[in-house]
Amino acid sequence: MEKKNIDWSNLGFAYQVTDKRFVSNYKNGAWDEGVLTEDATITLTECAGVLQYAQTCFEGLKAYTTEDGRTVCFRPDLNASRMKDSCERLEMPVFPEDKFVEAVKEVVRANEAFVPPYGSGATLYIRPYMFGSSAVIGVKPAEEYQFRIFCTPVGPYFKGGAKPITIRVCDYDRAAPHGTGHIKAGLNYAMSLYQIVDAHEQGFDENMYLDAATRTYVEETGGANFIFITKDGTLVTPKSDSILPSITRRSLMVVAEKYLGMKVEHRPVRFDEIKDFAECGLCGTAAVISPVGKINDHGNEICFPSGMDEMGPVTKKLYDTLTGIQMGRIEAPEGWIVEI
Ligand code: PLP
Ligand code: COI
Repeated sequence: MEKKNIDWSNLGFAYQVTDKRFVSNYKNGAWDEGVLTEDATITLTECAGVLQYAQTCFEGLKAYTTEDGRTVCFRPDLNASRMKDSCERLEMPVFPEDKFVEAVKEVVRANEAFVPPYGSGATLYIRPYMFGSSAVIGVKPAEEYQFRIFCTPVGPYFKGGAKPITIRVCDYDRAAPHGTGHIKAGLNYAMSLYQIVDAHEQGFDENMYLDAATRTYVEETGGANFIFITKDGTLVTPKSDSILPSITRRSLMVVAEKYLGMKVEHRPVRFDEIKDFAECGLCGTAAVISPVGKINDHGNEICFPSGMDEMGPVTKKLYDTLTGIQMGRIEAPEGWIVEI
């Protein structure tokens, strides 16, 4: 397969149109078969549920070229299952999980020329999403829906790749207790835009959100879960009902315990304990593991001993093992790698 003429190593995290995308419509209580199309545009009624009441959710996963030249993706079944949870919470019809995984494969296969080569530092980002497409004017779920998957080649989410970033404690909340923080609803991201624009204007890369009810526990950032490493090398990840259950974080917990023999704690993490951690990072499909060097709490700086120059040593081991599994250098646990 001849690859597209793209400067893979200099890609940022940005959209570029690829050849084909998957589209399936839900009407009269059933999903159609779905097709691949070259049309990257969508025409909708002005009163569509997604446009009026933000009835939409999405997923994110990646495809990789392995060291031995295969094209694979990472744990797509978990994206299918999380999208099911999102749909159920948003009164949307579930797209069958097995068909979700098949459609992901179809899209990657149809855009194989856009899957970045092994070693380029880039990957193919895959974006499944669903929205209410029929007209609603009273506040209620739409009757018709569209499920789509497109893909686009991407580089690092944060400029500078593996360089530690600086984040700040945010005065706004991401998710209410018993709200929608645990699902991947578009509305969770719409309401974070004000804060992220402000964070960037103030010179910070991301926002750290605290629990909305008490502001004493660490939740997550706008697009990634936290990992912390204690001084004695334990992986600690925040547990809360209002954060997104990151597939990367769940995978790292297995990598830490089973591959690196580390102790792992998944528990509520108080904000006032983070000054005692040795390393901090953000983890997610887009972020992979982005090291955090510094957290600014209203002018008070928490600087991790790993510093601002490079990833801390334990974070690096986690990063190398996870990406090694994703790119076929290290044997994966059963079912993690799906060949296209
Ligand atoms: N948290 C939020 C709010 C996200 O948007 C994402 C991205 O998907 C994550 C965490 C990381 O999740 P995952 O590792 O499944 O990509
Ligand atoms: C992902 O990591 O897939 C996400 O959806 C995060 C988003 C902020 C790009």
